[in-house]
Amino acid sequence: MLKDLMTWRYATKAYDPARTLPEDKLEAILEAIRLAPTSSGTQPFEVFVVTNPEIKKSLGMMGMNQAATENASHALVFASWDTYTEERIDSVHAASESVRGKSELADRYYTGLKGLYVPRDPAINAEHAARQAYIALGFAMLAAAEQKVDATPMEGFDPAQADKVLGLAERGLKSQVILTLGYRGDGDWLEGAPKVRKSAEALFTRVA
Ligand SMILES: Cc1cc2nc3c(=O)[nH]c(=O)nc-3n(C[C@H](O)[C@H](O)[C@H](O)COP(=O)(O)O)c2cc1C
Repeated sequence: MLKDLMTWRYATKAYDPARTLPEDKLEAILEAIRLAPTSSGTQPFEVFVVTNPEIKKSLGMMGMNQAATENASHALVFASWDTYTEERIDSVHAASESVRGKSELADRYYTGLKGLYVPRDPAINAEHAARQAYIALGFAMLAAAEQKVDATPMEGFDPAQADKVLGLAERGLKSQVILTLGYRGDGDWLEGAPKVRKSAEALFTRVA
């Protein structure tokens, strides 16, 4: 059940450095990222799948995130578009045409989207693109739980450092969040800890 997966998973603090994620489990997690929905279907991000120990070490992880990332099997770096451009939206439109065929509705839709996004402040576009990456992050965490793979979402890193190491600025990308994957190790004080969450009354307001 979905609820069981959500209670099994936790933001793992210590990984077993001796355990590597099998390729089929990685593929299942990456496929969840690929299938995640995004605004207008633009998928305005890329994910860098880092296993190289030196690169994992040099992503600019802060505090305890450093050891966790070094010991984790994989680090997925979610890097979103720095803005929306005519070319980027055209490529989304072309992908839609190649799968669904040409349609006047799609032509009008993407023309409208370009008119809205391309002239907009790049900082607003970058924020919008980053939010899309976080949806995929959520899907990835659930897919990892389904595979019984431990995972930690991490914002505690220096994005400028990660961008430099991965050469992201040249590609018009900005690192947003990192998801480490692997298997829990010894000394993880959060393993088995009950979830701390708002009550349903505090979280939901029903407007009937
Ligand atoms: C976007 C995001 C960023 C996070 N950044 C970090 C981080 O840098 N380091 C860390 O150990 N945990 C990080 N966390 C984990 C949260 O603290 C954790 O998800 C939250 O306390 C709920 O606990 P649970 O995930 O174990 O259920 C982050 C979580 C999210 C969703």
